[in-house]
Amino acid sequence: MASARIATAFTRRSLTHRFAATRTQPRSLFCCQAHQMSTDASSVAARLSSSGFIRSQGFIGGKWTDAYDGKTIEVINPATGEVITNVSCMGARETNDAIASAQEAFVSWSKVTAAERSKCLRKWYDLLMSHKEELGQLMTLEQGKPLKEAIGEVGYGASFVEFFAEEAKRVYGDIIPATLPDRRLFVVKQPVGVVGAITPWNFPLAMITRKVAPALACGCTVVVKPSEFTPLTALAAAELSVQAGIPRGAVNVVMGNASEIGDALLASPQVRKITFTGSTAVGKKLMAGAAATVKKVSLELGGNAPCIIFDDADLDVAVKGALASKFRNSGQTCVCANRVLVQEGIYEKFADAFSKAVKNMKVGHGFTEGAVDVGPLINDAAMHKVESFVQDAISKGAKVLVGGKKHSLGMRFYEPTVLTDIKNEMILAREEIFGPVAPLQKFKTEEEAIRRANDTNAGLAAYIFTTNMQRSWRVSEALEYGLVGVNEGLISTEVAPFGGVKQSGLGREGSKYGIDEYLEMKYICMGNMN
Ligand code: SIN
Repeated sequence: MASARIATAFTRRSLTHRFAATRTQPRSLFCCQAHQMSTDASSVAARLSSSGFIRSQGFIGGKWTDAYDGKTIEVINPATGEVITNVSCMGARETNDAIASAQEAFVSWSKVTAAERSKCLRKWYDLLMSHKEELGQLMTLEQGKPLKEAIGEVGYGASFVEFFAEEAKRVYGDIIPATLPDRRLFVVKQPVGVVGAITPWNFPLAMITRKVAPALACGCTVVVKPSEFTPLTALAAAELSVQAGIPRGAVNVVMGNASEIGDALLASPQVRKITFTGSTAVGKKLMAGAAATVKKVSLELGGNAPCIIFDDADLDVAVKGALASKFRNSGQTCVCANRVLVQEGIYEKFADAFSKAVKNMKVGHGFTEGAVDVGPLINDAAMHKVESFVQDAISKGAKVLVGGKKHSLGMRFYEPTVLTDIKNEMILAREEIFGPVAPLQKFKTEEEAIRRANDTNAGLAAYIFTTNMQRSWRVSEALEYGLVGVNEGLISTEVAPFGGVKQSGLGREGSKYGIDEYLEMKYICMGNMN
């Protein structure tokens, strides 16, 4: 995977950008803070580049390909603002070629035995795991999450590949008792065809493997559009898929112009399925766009997760769970607790213990020695959003218990924050914050907590903390959410179905249910069988 050209380009561009960036950032912060850290990030990037882990071209039909018009787009390290590399900025023409390659590969891949597909996926899993350090470093570079968390995501991402390597062999059909004596009725399951997978920046690997692994397992082929913010992990994973023996053309990666790529995927009658993780607004557009060619659609969209702490909760368990759910990936997950609802009897104790724990969280660059809990936000837009949500809350009466402002590291670092006295008219009580900000709201009764938790169009994840067994069942059943964590803030796993209700999406990913999203059911009626 070696590429001296990219290594040289990286060094030159990142240095150029370092000086360019000082012109647009507040000088005092950027110059002194970013300079020291950039050495670490730069040397990691240079190492990854020279070992070929940093790819800059798209992957079409098994060939590394430049954008046809030669355009490129910068990939920025969110912790330093430096350019890591420039990648091809692709659009409709490249996407159409990727679809054609995926269609051609589908003809043979869909006929390969499940056992063979399973072996290729298992090999891909082994390769992902044996390169977990490099993939984790790549992820920290382009996404910013602390290295330990990034390496954890490689394990999480790879787990979908391992799981669906096994599920490939269990795509069973049915035999239905016939209604006439000379008939035999069967149901067979077949791959849907070419899949367009549009993935977000917050989990640069896991959101790809959660889609691509079940698709490949049952014989589909894919065109992946990773986020333009984090294409490098996707490209490295695609390279490893070929090394694992997955045929060229079965996995294609195009990145760049999101709307052109999305439109080309939607317009093509050859693309039979769109799978998307991202914002509810974009999900709705994709769903509408998929109607023209009546594609199968699965959507994993935004959440507004309530985290309900009842009076009878174990305080330590509740603090640990709320912390894990709120601050994972610096608060940038769709399942992060967005509203912390605390019953009045435990409110003061919880607010105090939770604030102390939040104050102890270490904010820093992902490559910092020792444990860093919270990394940077992905970009300036994310920083502006978090700042404006907090300002809106403060202007409407919220009080800051911890944090409440940009971190002294500058750039896109925001202080882990706890706010109290939250009211429903504040934006952060209604919309996804996607940052390290925990708003605490007081409630009196179980009924009130359920009503407030369900008073949203979102329905992805919810969390409850209680030691009362009956209550845990009662409330879990009453919550209008696709996922419920009871006394636990980290509940995602490859073996359980992940997905939302209401406007948080359609379909499920992971688990034995996840493969159905990539299958068509065919009924075969055989007559004259006597
Ligand atoms: C997401 O934030 O979209 C995914 C989170 C997870 O898989 O746990």
